[in-house]
Amino acid sequence: MTKGLRLVLFGPPGAGKGTQAQLLRERLNLTHISSGDLFRHHLGLGTPLGLRAKEYMNRGDLVPDEVTIDIILEKVMSIPSDGGFILDGFPRNPNQADVLDKKLAADSRDLDVVVHLKVSESELLNRLGGRYICRDCQSPHSIGEGEDTTDKKCDRCGAGLYQRDDDAPAAVMKRIEVYNEETTPLLGFYQQRGVLVEIPGDHSVDRVNKLIMTALNS
Ligand code: AP5
Ligand code: MG
Repeated sequence: MTKGLRLVLFGPPGAGKGTQAQLLRERLNLTHISSGDLFRHHLGLGTPLGLRAKEYMNRGDLVPDEVTIDIILEKVMSIPSDGGFILDGFPRNPNQADVLDKKLAADSRDLDVVVHLKVSESELLNRLGGRYICRDCQSPHSIGEGEDTTDKKCDRCGAGLYQRDDDAPAAVMKRIEVYNEETTPLLGFYQQRGVLVEIPGDHSVDRVNKLIMTALNS
């Protein structure tokens, strides 16, 4: 049996990591692990982890490593060793990347590819301003300005939609700043390892997906 792909989807807030992860997960039969979705799931349940994460998330700051790393690594390492996965939103700083790298290497399952979705800041702001999330499955949806959202339901599961607190303009600007300062240094780290693939992400969802599939097949 061939092993599944071990993939990181990398990019700024609103780059389309969650959107592309859903398409790739279905097409390539991969487990999708999103750190942000996991924190929001805990927040919805009102767990201590969710409440702790909330204060950082709503400001647009990273949740501390001592809260984040163990919970994500536990998910990753629970996947069978030949199973593929998509990491979405993790790693997000050099320490997270280092710990992940060592943990995977110790189990002989290094990352195959890190896909960097490059999107202009104006497009990020535009997308996040119109983003609504499913209350149940967390799928992102785009709603046009002035469109009535009252009866909008999730395309995938039919549950209601809401806007994330951290999509308020001040938090979005802070998230972009944190991404530029703390997360982009990882690009050099993955480039040196020869696993980084750059994808222009300003195109339509389908076009970006085709570009990713072409890169993965080559
Ligand atoms: P997280 O949930 O990971 O948020 P993020 O990285 O800021 O990214 P987003 O989820 O906002 O964007 P996305 O790239 O998934 O875009 P999407 O597909 O939704 O993290 C949230 C917070 O949790 C962090 O700020 C931090 O506090 C904490 N956290 C998470 N991970 C952490 C970690 N490792 N360490 C510490 N803290 C952590 O698309 C956006 C919108 O655009 C949608 O409406 C979508 O429909 C639309 N869209 C997507 N693609 C296209 C396209 N090609 N064309 C047009 N529209 C598109
Ligand atoms: Mg996301």
